[in-house]
Amino acid sequence: MATITPKYSMNTENMKKSQIREILKLTQQPDIISFGGGLPAPETFPVEELRAASERVFAKHAARALQYGTTEGDMALREVLLRYEASHGVIAKPENLLVTSASQQSLDMLPKLFLDPGDWVIAGRPTYLGAIQAIQAYRGKILGIPFSPEKDGFDMAELERRYTAAKAQGAKIKYIYVIPDFQNPTGICWSLEKRRALLEFSYREGLILVEDSPYREIRFIGESVPSIYQLDCEGAAQGNVINLKTFSKILAPGTRIGWMLARADIIDKFVTAKQSMDLCTSPFTQLWLAEYMAAGKLEEVVGRTRALYQKKRGYMLEQLDRYMPARDDLSWTKPEGGLFLWLSLPNSINADELLYKAIEKKVAYVSGSAFYFDDPEHNSMRINFSYSSLEQIEEGIKRLASVIKEALV
Ligand SMILES: Cc1ncc(COP(=O)(O)O)c(C=O)c1O
Repeated sequence: MATITPKYSMNTENMKKSQIREILKLTQQPDIISFGGGLPAPETFPVEELRAASERVFAKHAARALQYGTTEGDMALREVLLRYEASHGVIAKPENLLVTSASQQSLDMLPKLFLDPGDWVIAGRPTYLGAIQAIQAYRGKILGIPFSPEKDGFDMAELERRYTAAKAQGAKIKYIYVIPDFQNPTGICWSLEKRRALLEFSYREGLILVEDSPYREIRFIGESVPSIYQLDCEGAAQGNVINLKTFSKILAPGTRIGWMLARADIIDKFVTAKQSMDLCTSPFTQLWLAEYMAAGKLEEVVGRTRALYQKKRGYMLEQLDRYMPARDDLSWTKPEGGLFLWLSLPNSINADELLYKAIEKKVAYVSGSAFYFDDPEHNSMRINFSYSSLEQIEEGIKRLASVIKEALV
């Protein structure tokens, strides 16, 4: 019998596999040093405390943990999260918070709720690949805005110019998506001034502003800048900011738990969207994290994580200085937090092609082109510094530098 050709939807045609996931498969070979994934350092996971918390769930709330739960999330976790937010200066009510199956679920719900095929989202050029994939899957488009030369946020003049031109061509722009704290992939952190300017722009144009903050707490240098969500709450409070948070980078990505903060009527729409996706986030996992959080140890873990990443980031910068050829057209960001730095290469080097050579030399990165919706730049790479050991960082940068030097010859 002939095999049936599945009749996939037009949405499916637009879905693109992530280069990162594909590279992650390759890098599971034990001798490869991978700067490719966005993996937290496993040594930061508080394994014993998480195990004890899971045992307490079985002892105290087994039936509740094993039953279906509400779509909004278990009240025990929501209350703990509201207290956590309050300790970081964000005052919200239960109706402003939705528990999600980590932030990627929110990134998928956003285009599901806001985009009709052909609608537009304003986002950084480059921006997080998982957000691009979700927007593409709903046949949305991205109006990419480059960052300023000072690397303190969007080039606001370019935002105005590109926005006006897109509107003049009839583009229906639905929301803005940004990662103001230590952006994935570049590591850029937005200044207060730029955060305010973008918020004002969103008010003026009546646009929802999505602030994705997985790395916000992982600041190891300098002073924290208020989130755009906070600025909205404190200022004109027009309530058009949606803030995405997750345990993935502050505790462990395997928890697959995140949360969203927004105006109550917006949260309500997301609750409906989430119902058809998973009914509810795993009640067991929610109660597990509520138990873990109640023991008050998260801040300690985040503190240790910051210290460790600061050391790894510093060591990686030293190795880059030591091994990379010194040229004006070869530079890298020096992030004050997060998990990544961004290396810009001479125009003559194509980082997509270079990756094959790098993998031959047993070192991997993600080519910068993966983070562009359209018209990608090919001379950059994202390098993760959180996962590898110091020895691997030195050896990996040495290998990467030799691949780059060969390409320059
Ligand atoms: C900017 C950004 N948003 C969202 C996510 C997804 O995070 P989660 O593990 O919470 O789904 C990531 C993961 O790396 C990310 O970098």
